[in-house]
Amino acid sequence: MGRREDLFAELKSIKNELEKITLKGLFKENPKRFEEFSVSLENMTLDYSKININKDAISKLFEVAKECKVEEKRDAMFSGEKINITENRAVLHTALRNKSDNQIFVDGKDVIPDIKEVLQNMKEFATSIRDGKILSSTNEEFTDIINIGIGGSHLGPEMVSQALTPYCDGPKVHFVSNIDSSHLSDTIKDLNPATTLVIVASKTFTTIETMTNAKSAKKWFQESLGEKEANLHFAALSTALEKTKEFGISDDRVFGFWDWVGGRYSIWSAIGLSVMIAIGADSFDEFLEGAFIMDEHFKTAPIEKNMPMLLGLIGIWHRNICDYDTRAILPYDQRLRSFAMYVQQLDMESNGKRVTLSGEELKIKSGPIVWGEPGTNSQHSFFQLLHQGKDIIPCEFMLAVNNHENGMDIHNDLLMANCLAQSQAMMNGRDIDEVRTILKDSGLCEEKIEELAPHKVFEGNRPSSTLIYKKLDPKTLGKIIALYEHRVFVEGAIWDVGSFDQWGVELGKELATKMVSYIQDDSKDTKLLDSSSKGLLDTIKLWNK
Ligand code: F6P
Repeated sequence: MGRREDLFAELKSIKNELEKITLKGLFKENPKRFEEFSVSLENMTLDYSKININKDAISKLFEVAKECKVEEKRDAMFSGEKINITENRAVLHTALRNKSDNQIFVDGKDVIPDIKEVLQNMKEFATSIRDGKILSSTNEEFTDIINIGIGGSHLGPEMVSQALTPYCDGPKVHFVSNIDSSHLSDTIKDLNPATTLVIVASKTFTTIETMTNAKSAKKWFQESLGEKEANLHFAALSTALEKTKEFGISDDRVFGFWDWVGGRYSIWSAIGLSVMIAIGADSFDEFLEGAFIMDEHFKTAPIEKNMPMLLGLIGIWHRNICDYDTRAILPYDQRLRSFAMYVQQLDMESNGKRVTLSGEELKIKSGPIVWGEPGTNSQHSFFQLLHQGKDIIPCEFMLAVNNHENGMDIHNDLLMANCLAQSQAMMNGRDIDEVRTILKDSGLCEEKIEELAPHKVFEGNRPSSTLIYKKLDPKTLGKIIALYEHRVFVEGAIWDVGSFDQWGVELGKELATKMVSYIQDDSKDTKLLDSSSKGLLDTIKLWNK
């Protein structure tokens, strides 16, 4: 990877040169900066003009992408090659939303007919639940659905159903993920078991959180409805058909997917069933269509007009050239309140890696810390640090131009104004002279002005991008999620990491299994444990009622 490092060094020189001019200066120099540093796809535009970058840096980043064979790797993914090397698996979440007539082969078998069959079964099931054709054990319509799952089997369905609230016209969907008993118990406390359907969402059907919650939910049904009846209140989404049978779920209520669908990329698969029940099959199709449009764009648009490529390369610029450790995702869209959490798994589980695909220690930084909250709420919490803290945090603003509410335009106008104002403030800042003038105009004496002025200075020159879209409808949401998926891909391809495995979650799981025996068995000797674990276990035992 020597050439990549050389290009990074050249990019660092460009960055050093760029530091001599502020973002404000770049805009002054080039009135066409927005036109030149933004990219559009249908009703969606990514404005990256407020990032301290220039054309030289962008073309050098294109060279990085070429050097790291991002396009070839992308094509390998789309074609079903086994690019998830450590698990010997293809990576084909894109096949789940493929609307073309292309065949896609894995191990010599076209996967498209199976995808179509499961999708059709999901549609029939979802529609029958919504229309009241499939009834509960008490012959009542299902009013509430609980999706029990965690990680990719939870974050996607929850985020998408929140985002598409205006399109939710089916039974009410609830989500339980945490093994903490409060999650299930607070969720079912006001629900009627007779009219509730539980969807157990787990690719492996072994995840301890999901299986523990599913078993407790089953007990809840059994106690109020009876042993056999309980099974009529379950469906499952899994690749492990033997295990779903063992749990007592009949095969016609099991919706399968395949090992080439990673958990954090699975919202497009059967894992989306709760969303489909909530919004209906047609809206779910729109959602898939949106992702397909982004896929086609990612596959075919030239690099300089390719939104995921550009977003990924901006990520590389910030992480490897500017050395920023985190990125903030700031949707000015309350219904995207779980989006940052969703992208945390997508991004950090994919690219939070310390070795290359061939197992060598990475010499450069890989995935950054991803975090965020919706605006305007976040303006009243952590924006202080974004504007005046010692760390520079690239901000990714997201903004819908139209809301879904009638007669509430004032809210939307203010929401949009705040979003634009924040990125403007980050870019321009406010220098000491301006602060002094403002303080003077407000009638303060010289001494007070000098005392207050440093606190009121905004350095500015802080980078942000804005993804602006017409309205958060199913198609647009599909595009947004696919955009972020492909951005993760582009970055992972440049870092040369295995973006589709997640070995880093295994050790904790393994140790928890051992640890629980110390908690449950008083006779188990804790002497050999480290003193912290022993001390904490002793405290647990002392206080455990
Ligand atoms: O946290 C690890 C992980 O394997 C995620 O990748 C996955 O989304 C989650 O657990 C849930 O896994 P499953 O769907 O198999 O229950």
